[in-house]
Amino acid sequence: MRFLTLLMCAAIALMAVVSCTPKKEASKSKVLVLYYSQTSNTKAVAQEIATRLDADIEEITLVEPYDTAFQATIDRCKADREKGILPEIKPLKANIADYDWVFIGYPIWFGTYAPPVASLLEKVDLSDKWVVPFCTFGSGGLESSVKDLTEKQPNAKIMTGYGVRAARMDAMPKEVEQFLKLYMPLISNPDPTDIKANTQSDSLFVPADFPEQHPVSADEAAIFDAAVNGYPMLNAKAKTVASRTVLDGTEYLFTAMDMPREKKADMPPASEIQVYVLVEKDKAPVFTKVVR
Ligand SMILES: Cc1cc2nc3c(=O)[nH]c(=O)nc-3n(C[C@H](O)[C@H](O)[C@H](O)COP(=O)(O)O)c2cc1C
Repeated sequence: MRFLTLLMCAAIALMAVVSCTPKKEASKSKVLVLYYSQTSNTKAVAQEIATRLDADIEEITLVEPYDTAFQATIDRCKADREKGILPEIKPLKANIADYDWVFIGYPIWFGTYAPPVASLLEKVDLSDKWVVPFCTFGSGGLESSVKDLTEKQPNAKIMTGYGVRAARMDAMPKEVEQFLKLYMPLISNPDPTDIKANTQSDSLFVPADFPEQHPVSADEAAIFDAAVNGYPMLNAKAKTVASRTVLDGTEYLFTAMDMPREKKADMPPASEIQVYVLVEKDKAPVFTKVVR
């Protein structure tokens, strides 16, 4: 009985608080997802993001699209670079000024965002916008492209980005879901100045930092080899490693020496790289990205 009375008092007190608190409409920021994609990987990420955020979406298109053949695309990029030109893009339908957040997506080409995105960045001003880069790649390039983006648009508020290997597109929807948990509270808050406070979310898994690197053991070297073997662009040997627990398993950060099979005059004979490897329960090791 005493318990019931206490419960009723608590309910009445709560109703009083609720009825006295002015209703604050959660005003949502406007979000645009802009992307370039040649073979639809980046398009799939863009669509996943736009659907989950209920955002506007627009594709960056070229006046003269690239040939779909890989080598022809490379040849045109090289010829454009020699001439010092970028491909001409069609005007955007969206007015960037109308948006608070711009998610910008691209495939990595030659270590950075593909040229159509370079063309876009020449034309638009992202100053004071919250900009979230995302990309797809064969082996990596998020970090280098974000560095270039930051140099090109120094007044944009460039946030942590998302990148996924073309070979891991099946993992993308789940990763995007987790990635967006970083931003959903900020997007619903029209003045996201206190990022730390706003990203507190019970369902957001934030892995611990990697501990210090140590020399690889035979088992760890075998994990590395299993993850990178078969990828033609790498000829790497692991030197040191650190690991941490992530949502679905263990993530390893290896430092390795990469010795390109094909010797080129403009490339060093060997370079140190960082390779992120994911080992999920009952699955073979896969590398998620290479940072050069
Ligand atoms: C011309 C060209 C250059 C590329 N350069 C790189 C590169 O430097 N690094 C990399 O990891 N992947 C590179 N890739 C692979 C693409 O980034 C990858 O296939 C991407 O998922 C393609 O995205 P899309 O399907 O949205 O066009 C390149 C692909 C092309 C066509």
